[in-house]
Parts: sequence; C-alpha cells; structure tokens
Amino acid sequence: MVGEFRFDGVPSIRFGTGVFAGAGRLIRNYGKSLLLVTGSRSFTSGVAGRDFLEEMKKSGTKIDIVNVDGEPHAEFIDSIVAAFQNSNIDVVMAAGGGSVLDAGKALSAMLTVKGKTWDYLEGNPGMKTHPGTRLPLIAVPTTAGTGSEATKNAVLTTPGEPRYKRSLRHENFVSDIALVDPLLTTGCPPEVTAASGLDAITQLLEAFVSTGSSPLTDALAESGLQKAFGSISRAVHNGDDTEARSGMAYAALLSGIVLANAGLGAVHGYASILGGYFDIPHGVVCGTLLGSVTRVNIQKLRASGSGSEYLDKYSEAGRLMSPRKGESRDYYLDYLADELDRLIDNLSMPRLGQYGIMASDVSALASETGIKNNPIQLDRGDLEAILLSRL
Ligand SMILES: [Fe+2]
Repeated sequence: MVGEFRFDGVPSIRFGTGVFAGAGRLIRNYGKSLLLVTGSRSFTSGVAGRDFLEEMKKSGTKIDIVNVDGEPHAEFIDSIVAAFQNSNIDVVMAAGGGSVLDAGKALSAMLTVKGKTWDYLEGNPGMKTHPGTRLPLIAVPTTAGTGSEATKNAVLTTPGEPRYKRSLRHENFVSDIALVDPLLTTGCPPEVTAASGLDAITQLLEAFVSTGSSPLTDALAESGLQKAFGSISRAVHNGDDTEARSGMAYAALLSGIVLANAGLGAVHGYASILGGYFDIPHGVVCGTLLGSVTRVNIQKLRASGSGSEYLDKYSEAGRLMSPRKGESRDYYLDYLADELDRLIDNLSMPRLGQYGIMASDVSALASETGIKNNPIQLDRGDLEAILLSRL
C-alpha cells in the first residue's frame, strides 16, 4: 500500500546544455527591470554571462547587479533590500552557486516585506511569520550541488557570535523557474565540483533513507543517485566532460526536490552546527562525513533487527553504485559503505582537522547536533565517534 505523503511545488524546470541562451526571453516575460544576483567573480566574466548582459542591454532591460561574496549574511540581505526597496524591480535572477541562489531567494522574499531578515529566520525567538510574498525568481545554478534552485528555503548566517545557519523558509519561496544549463558548470574548479557533488549525493542518499520519504521522492532519489554515481569522478577529473557535468546538474536538481519533500539525515545535522562555528564549506562537511555516517547507520540498522526497509534502500544505493549485478543485499550494503569511503578519498575530501576542528571540540559539537530524519537513532557516543573518525 502507498501511504499518505505530501509533495510540494517544484519550479518550472528548463534543463539542458545551452538552455541559458533563452534567459533573456524568460526575463522579458516578467518586465523591464532585472535584479541580477551573482558571485563575486564567476558569472558576469564568462562568455554566457557577457552575452546575456549584452542581450539585456540591446533589449532595453534595466539591470542592477548584486555581488555575493561568500555565504550570505542576514545583515547583507537587509543592506541590499534597503538599497533596492523602491526600485520597482520586476524579476530577480540568481546565477551562481548555492550561496548566490540562497541570497537571490532571500532578496526576492525580503523586498516585499518590512523589517529585518533576522526576525523572519526559522528558530529565532519571537520569529515573525513571513507572508510568503516574493518577487518573481529565476534560479540559474553554476555549480552542481545544493539543489537550491528547487528548494523552499534560503540558508543565511546570523549576525553576532556564535554564528548560526538558519533558514528563511516558506512554501512559496521555491523559484518560479529553475534554468539548469550544465554548460555553466564547466568552469567550476575540481575541488568545488567534488564538494558540491558530494553534497548532492548526500542529499539524495539522506532523502532516500529518510523517515519522511515517499515512493515519489524515492523514485527521484534513485534516478539522481544513478546519474551522480556515474558522473562525479569524471566531472571532477575532467571539467569539460559535458555528459558528466549534465549528470551532476541533473542529480543536484533532483537532490533539491527530494530534500524539500523528504527531509535529510545526520550528515546535514552536523553541517548546520559545524558550518556555524567553523569556516568550512557546506559541501566539505557533507563530503567528509558521508562515508562514516552511512557506515554507522548501516551497522546500527543491522544490529537493531528492525528498519529492514532502510537496509533495502541502502542496498539499492550500493547496487546503483556497483558494476556487479545480481549480488546479495549484504554484498551491496558492504559495497556502499566501502565505495563511499573510496570515493571520498579519491576526490581528496579534506578532513575536519584542516579547518581547525580539534578533538577537544568534539563533545560540544556532538551535543548540539540533531539527526533530522535519520533512519536510525544515533546517540551522543555515535555522534562523537563519527566526528573523531574524520578529524
Ligand atoms: Fe546539503
């Protein structure tokens, strides 16, 4: 029997090599004033970006450009809102990595309300409920990772110390159009391709074995995992491999859809804590911890004698990753745990110690880590052991 589930809206998706050439036409459907949110270097200096700006100029579209350098801060969003609140912007287009897409999403929402972004962030004391209004939003990913082009939240860093990562979230914040052109990711350097690609794989695998998964999210997660496993190493080691880039762009898009509809697990529980206290990219936290968390989850599910459905799913993920077909469930469970470790090593994922995390930090970090929709309970000792294994 198919149980009860909920699946919320996804953007209108335009996917394929070269689809970005149609961006101008999409923008003109909304009006003549564009707020372009992009990274500090990448997009506007590339051929596609320059051609786009030229086309906008010829068509008489007014463009204001916001550069996002690093992970977006709530106060940064407020400063941009203050500058553009009376500019009659018709549409926001965010073209960049996950931080840029999240900044664009937050700006499209905050330009329609009064007050500080901080007051609307999830989990803040006295949090205000955002009415869900926003300007039209087109999301153009230039890395294959967070899937932010398909999610309903923007992750922002809070002001003050200690820093926290908190979400501005509403069902209505899913972008109107996800314009996913794998050619835009070919300039992405190997270390960013590896970390963002492992973030996408983590999101797909965590959503697949999530306690909030459904047959619909499972189908999408499996499709994304299959493409990602066949593409990530090639995309990292040969950035011009268009087929591999398109596999990763597809996997990242699907990872956003499934994380928004099934939830995530312990790896992302760690990510929200570690990313607040240490200057460590989200994709690196996910990439470096994915193997250890998966191994412990499988061990604990096996020892518990329950959770057979989750072991079946982990086994299916191992089967998708393996060149051998027709093996047993146990074979694929062991294969998945071993192969994820090998992949993480082959992609040279940094260890946590490289970002200043020490053994003396582990107890406090584990005490704050929540496991979200992880398929099996992890206790404090498990959470500490996982961190220690990747220092
Ligand atoms: Fe993630």
